[in-house]
Amino acid sequence: TPITAPDITSICKDASAGIRNPDGAIRTRKCCPPSLGKTVKPFVFPKEKTVRMRWPAHNGTKEQLEKYRAAIQAMRDLPDDHPHSFVSQAKIHCAYCNGGYTQVASGFPEIDIQIHNSWLFFPFHRWYLYFYERILGKLINDPTFALPFWKWDEPAGMPIPEMFVPETINGKPNSLYDVYRNANHIKERIVDLDFDGKDKDISDEVQKACNLSTVYRDLVRNGADTISFFGGEYVAGDSPVGNSDPSVGSVESGSHTAVHRWVGDSNQPNSEDMGNFYSAGYDPAFYIHHSNVDRMWKLWKDLRLPGHVEPTDPDWLNASYVFYDENEELVRVYNKDCVDLGKLKYNYIENSREVFPWRKSRP
Ligand code: C2O
Repeated sequence: TPITAPDITSICKDASAGIRNPDGAIRTRKCCPPSLGKTVKPFVFPKEKTVRMRWPAHNGTKEQLEKYRAAIQAMRDLPDDHPHSFVSQAKIHCAYCNGGYTQVASGFPEIDIQIHNSWLFFPFHRWYLYFYERILGKLINDPTFALPFWKWDEPAGMPIPEMFVPETINGKPNSLYDVYRNANHIKERIVDLDFDGKDKDISDEVQKACNLSTVYRDLVRNGADTISFFGGEYVAGDSPVGNSDPSVGSVESGSHTAVHRWVGDSNQPNSEDMGNFYSAGYDPAFYIHHSNVDRMWKLWKDLRLPGHVEPTDPDWLNASYVFYDENEELVRVYNKDCVDLGKLKYNYIENSREVFPWRKSRP
């Protein structure tokens, strides 16, 4: 039986899994979405003709950047209990990852849902960003609005994008800034895609070369088949899987987690914001990192190597989640409906003339 998220507004509990106080005691968080008394509807594919083209964050136009900044500000300006607010969007990650929901809808009310460390990782985050992008577009009245992506697989894109760095812009708070980050890393800028908690004493050039090898490792060497890339099976009745489980997918356990740890502030009790599930969504960089993680799925498929295919098991295809869409309707979405980007009406701007630099970086 597939994992089936419950009606998130009626069945949700305080989250506590993996959240600690500085003294080590478990701490709980309120992560449940606002209840507007709506019933869950089936998802309908977007009907528009235009395709939203996600753009590399280090290389956007002034207009793209300003729209993005304005949209995040508009999100921050909403009251917290609005389903589109900055806080409500951040809480989605907490609720699905720190134990806000149980598997009650598939017959296991005692077992939490955890969408990490398994084959739910890629599809869940794809849907999460799909709605997040459309909500931002709606807030600034731009039906073509597209998210940037942190293109850490190309040397020019490896520094944390400049837009996230300043605390204020023209005397006003920068909507993309977050105080809970590792200040030294943000200053030095080049991300370490293999960060394990310890800083390496290497030059920027060497770090860039290492990063390319890491991308190659995650997309080719360690991701040679469906389960190695997506992560192991996770179905109704399974307990949440830990991140040390060997079946965590190659990108998820590799570059994806390294970036979370590299950005998060290791002086905070849970490496907030990016270093813990409950808090990661409070850093705008989270969504831009995940937009590139989502793009890794696309690039992996585009390699067209044997074994580079999505799962076909019905327990993967029919796993489902519930989100508020851009019209504040509650909709249920299935893994099987997020495989085709063409149907979701977004894609990624690629530099088609260039061979991806990591392709030549076999470790
Ligand atoms: Cu849901 Cu990058 O974590």
